[in-house]
Amino acid sequence: MEKFTAQDYQMQTYGGGLQGKRPLLTPLWKKMEELAYAKMEEGARSYINGGAGLGHTVDNNRNDFNKYRIVPRMLKNVEVRDTSTQVLGVDMAAPFFLCPVGVAEMVHPEGDLAIAKGAAPTGIPYIFSNQGSFPMEDCAAAMGETPHFFQLYWSKSRALVSSFVKRAEACGARGIVLTLDTTLLGWRTGDMDIAYLPFLLGKGIAQYTSDPVFRGLVEDEIAQEHPDLDKQSPKYKEVFGQTCAILFTKIYNNSSTTWDDLAFLRDQTSLPIILKGILHKDDAKLAVKYGMDGIYVSNHGGRQVDGSISSIAALPKIVKAIKKQIPIMMDSGIRGGADVFKALALGADAVGLGRPHIFALTLAGAEGVTEVIRHLQADFELTMALSGCKNVGEINRACIVKS
Ligand code: FNR
Repeated sequence: MEKFTAQDYQMQTYGGGLQGKRPLLTPLWKKMEELAYAKMEEGARSYINGGAGLGHTVDNNRNDFNKYRIVPRMLKNVEVRDTSTQVLGVDMAAPFFLCPVGVAEMVHPEGDLAIAKGAAPTGIPYIFSNQGSFPMEDCAAAMGETPHFFQLYWSKSRALVSSFVKRAEACGARGIVLTLDTTLLGWRTGDMDIAYLPFLLGKGIAQYTSDPVFRGLVEDEIAQEHPDLDKQSPKYKEVFGQTCAILFTKIYNNSSTTWDDLAFLRDQTSLPIILKGILHKDDAKLAVKYGMDGIYVSNHGGRQVDGSISSIAALPKIVKAIKKQIPIMMDSGIRGGADVFKALALGADAVGLGRPHIFALTLAGAEGVTEVIRHLQADFELTMALSGCKNVGEINRACIVKS
């Protein structure tokens, strides 16, 4: 992991200015977002930007951060600062990680592989998406010593669930993040408007096409539909590709899942299991009751339920209900160091950076991903120190007020 401090980074940037150099990425996240969307093709722009319905949840995610305000304390000697933390036994250079974001190939040919390469030198963990564009094994190899997790969607095929989990274990994942909020695809108005779903084009299904169980299911399907097709023929290859996309849409999610199904997952792995998409305190309590190892407060960046509570608004009640029994992660709306600080002050252990790392990937590939992580890390370090805290352990509820 490369040594990093906010002050070195600031001076390097300002020093570069003396030689006429600008930073690789703008730290103005709105500007970065605009530049990235301008560079994307229509489908990618819609898919990444998209919120469910009228987009109110997307707005709530940002607006609700401003309902909390930091109250900085002075003269606290913050000369020696440490942004590192540990969650579920995993060392993190700062209390944030990269969220699982599917179909990154829409904005960069190396997709999630480039994201892994960008995260590797930073010590910031990355959660690989179930909808990755590259097999998890390739991304794991690119991460080096920097930790990674695997995000799982509960498929209709239990054999496939099991296979994904075993592969994640084998390639060194530090936990399974089970996303609960996408048992059905939300009403994504932007994507519907342009009639665009990347999976139908065979994008974002690399975990499946690289999986022996899934490939077996595809072969069975072809044997039924085209019993006379020769496996060695070019036509078979073409039909195989089409069948992968179709079968994926049929089995990737499962709206009949209940809490009792978690026992199956628990039996498949000794890795920590973290439930992503928790917004209600009673669901958080159920997660503990069902032996889960972590909670991940999220509304999927506003892509699933329109008019939903924001993650930051949901957090306090969940923290109170959990009473530190298991760690709490959160995402949805994290854009700056102050957002990380506020979430930690409310009791989150770590937060996820979602869309911004995709903007960075769009604009500057793997180096852009490293850069956007550096920006958040520096911003967080300075916010923490200027608020009077030397390390993550000193951030608590007394650091903020509800405005
Ligand atoms: C996502 N998210 C997501 N979550 C997940 O569990 N599996 C996935 O494959 C995806 N894919 C995905 C694609 C795109 C384009 C986006 C924007 C988001 C949700 C993601 O993990 C995270 O919850 C949100 O991105 C957080 O919201 P913000 O901060 O990006 O607004």
